[in-house]
Amino acid sequence: MEVKIAVIGGTGVYNPDIMTNVRNETVNTPYGEVQLKIGHYRGKPVAFMNRHGDDHSVPPHLVNYRANIAALKKLGVKTILATGAVGSLNPAMQPGHFVFVDQFLDFTKNRHNTFFDGGVAGVVHTDVTDPYCPELREILCRAARSLGLTAHPSGTYVCTEGPRFETAAEIKMFRLLGGDLVGMTGVPEASLAREGEMCYATIAMVTNYAAGISPTRLTHREVVDVMMQNVENIRKLIMQAIAW
Ligand code: HPA
Repeated sequence: MEVKIAVIGGTGVYNPDIMTNVRNETVNTPYGEVQLKIGHYRGKPVAFMNRHGDDHSVPPHLVNYRANIAALKKLGVKTILATGAVGSLNPAMQPGHFVFVDQFLDFTKNRHNTFFDGGVAGVVHTDVTDPYCPELREILCRAARSLGLTAHPSGTYVCTEGPRFETAAEIKMFRLLGGDLVGMTGVPEASLAREGEMCYATIAMVTNYAAGISPTRLTHREVVDVMMQNVENIRKLIMQAIAW
C-alpha cells in the first residue's frame, strides 16, 4: 500500500504505542540512504522520519534534507506534516504556543537546497509564493481548536544556519524584516517538498523567546525542556490532523 502521509519530527513526536504494524524501512535515494518507520493509524499508512536521525545525532546544518524529501517522494507521500522547535520574536507567540507558519525568510548559508541542479533534473524555477500548504494549515487549525490548544494560524518563519543561536542584533533585524519565529530546520525542507510537488506544512512549537527578547540567556536545555513538556500536545495534534 502506498504511504501518502508522512510526519517529519524530532525526539518524542513518534509514539509507537498509537501505531500498529510498525516496520523500519531503509530508503535509497540519489542523495543518500534514509531510515524511517512506517506504521498504521486508523488504517492509514503513515511514515515517521526523524530529521536528525534515529539517535538525534545530526545537527540542523548537516541534515540531509534532499535525501529525506526524496525518500518520502519515492514512497509515494503526498502530504508532509513537519514539526520544529522555534524561538519567538513576536510577543503574542508565547512559549508553549503552536504556529502554523505561512511564510519563510531564508537565512541559511551552506545547504544543498534544490533538486534542480541542472543535468538530468534540468533547470527549474519553482513557485514558492505560498510555501506552506493552505489546506493542511487549515486542518491543523481545526485540530488545534478541537483540542483546546493555543495556536496561531499564520506567521513568518526565519530559518538560520545554526547550530549557534542568534545574536540580539540578528533577532532585531529579523523582527524589522517581518519575522515572527526563528528556527534552524524549516528551510530547505519546505522548498524541497514544493519542488517535489508535495503538500507540506509545519507545526512550529514555540520553546522560548529569541535572543535579546528573552531577559535571560538562551540554552539548549531550555528548548528541549519546553519541547518535552509539550510533546504530548504535538502528538495529539498530529494524530487528530491525520485522522481527518
Ligand atoms: N533560535 C533558533 N532556533 C531555535 C530557537 C531559537 O531561539 N529555539 C528553538 N529553535
